Amino acid sequence: MLPAIVIDHPLIKHKLTLLRNKDTAPSYFRVILKEISFLLAFEVTKSLPLENKEIETPVCKTTAPMLAGKKMCIFSILRAGEGLAQGLLELIPTAKAGHVGLYRDEKSLDAVEYYFKAPADLDKRFNLVVDPMLATGCSAIAALNKIKNEGAKNITFLCLLAAPEGIIALNKEHPDVQIYTAAIDNKLNEKSYIVPGLGDAGDRIFGT
Ligand code: URA
Repeated sequence: MLPAIVIDHPLIKHKLTLLRNKDTAPSYFRVILKEISFLLAFEVTKSLPLENKEIETPVCKTTAPMLAGKKMCIFSILRAGEGLAQGLLELIPTAKAGHVGLYRDEKSLDAVEYYFKAPADLDKRFNLVVDPMLATGCSAIAALNKIKNEGAKNITFLCLLAAPEGIIALNKEHPDVQIYTAAIDNKLNEKSYIVPGLGDAGDRIFGT
């Protein structure tokens, strides 16, 4: 497994630059993020299993492929994950949605869970965990710990921007989880923001 797969495409690069620009307003930021989520989904879902179904076209009976089995669960790590998850759910309406809410304890710096909701059959699904920013990796690691404890086996992590520090940390704790990202940035700054990054993804999405 590669440490991280960069989904490299001119359209994604162009749209990512629009997101990085501090003058992009939240309303436009949300539109672009949704468009990027469609493009990222194309690559991340490439190995979803298919099964042939018998159908009838206006011309004749035929068999044609459709997604097989229990399909997907798209997990958003609250709150910024919603910005990616909503687009993915629109594109893949048969997917179920899961939510993991985490906050960082000021003293211990540990990720503390405050919310979790997911379908019961995670072991039968392709679980796609999304958060636009993989910075230190702390929330992603905590979210994956929880999702695995709830039974998920087949898990992929998707972000928009990753810091090298976050990739290393996530690979160390969850070597079985493939990371997909639109770009790997330079580093984290002293406040654990990704550099050059796009700022606080939640604030950029929700205008807070
Ligand atoms: N989370 C964000 O929203 N932005 C960063 O740069 C790092 C973590």
